[in-house]
Amino acid sequence: MVDFTERDPASPAFWDERFARQFTPWDRGAVPQALQQLVAGSAPRVSLIPGCGAAYELVCLAEAGWDVTAIDFSPSAVATGKAVAGVHAARVVQADFFAWQPAPASAPLELIYERAFLCALPPAMRAQVAARWATLLPPGGWLAGYFFFDDQPKGPPFGISRSALDALLQADFECIVDAPVSDSIAVFAGKERWMIWQRRA
Ligand SMILES: C[S@@+](CC[C@H](N)C(=O)[O-])C[C@H]1O[C@@H](n2cnc3c(N)ncnc32)[C@H](O)[C@@H]1O
Repeated sequence: MVDFTERDPASPAFWDERFARQFTPWDRGAVPQALQQLVAGSAPRVSLIPGCGAAYELVCLAEAGWDVTAIDFSPSAVATGKAVAGVHAARVVQADFFAWQPAPASAPLELIYERAFLCALPPAMRAQVAARWATLLPPGGWLAGYFFFDDQPKGPPFGISRSALDALLQADFECIVDAPVSDSIAVFAGKERWMIWQRRA
């Protein structure tokens, strides 16, 4: 059992300690299949990866010609992400999701990628996360990724119920894809779904 000093997942120090001690059970070590299929079958989209961690997905999107930025507020996570990103390292930026702003005159975001970010934060912060997604994405934009469904109160990861996710997102987003996931890592197996939520007008 690993014993940690930092207990607040809303704090960068919580994640820093875990990256520094290489305790990252959420880390898939590769790009999940549904995202690979989306990239293979879609035109490039201006994209943001909040809470990117090791940022494998950034490399996949950047190499496919997507204009993608990955952000994380943990310096150790950013260092890990930059190392993984290699020639794309400048696209990995240290920033707090709730404060990050696109560069002036940059193209509007078309996609926000979600994996293990919503479930990383205390449930009390969910409304704040959803509001920020809705602010950052213009009408038609996609919130695409993996959503973790579970009813265990302890986390992270903090699972959500389908009804709670609907209640969180349905005012600003319409669910246009909802599919099972066959390549989950153990911590999420049988409890995550690949979803695309489209920003309403
Ligand atoms: C469970 S990890 C997931 C990392 C990555 N998405 C993945 O799938 O491997 C959650 C990440 O979110 C980051 N994070 C949490 N709150 C954040 C915030 N407010 N702004 C930016 N990053 C944040 C943490 O530093 C951590 O790297």
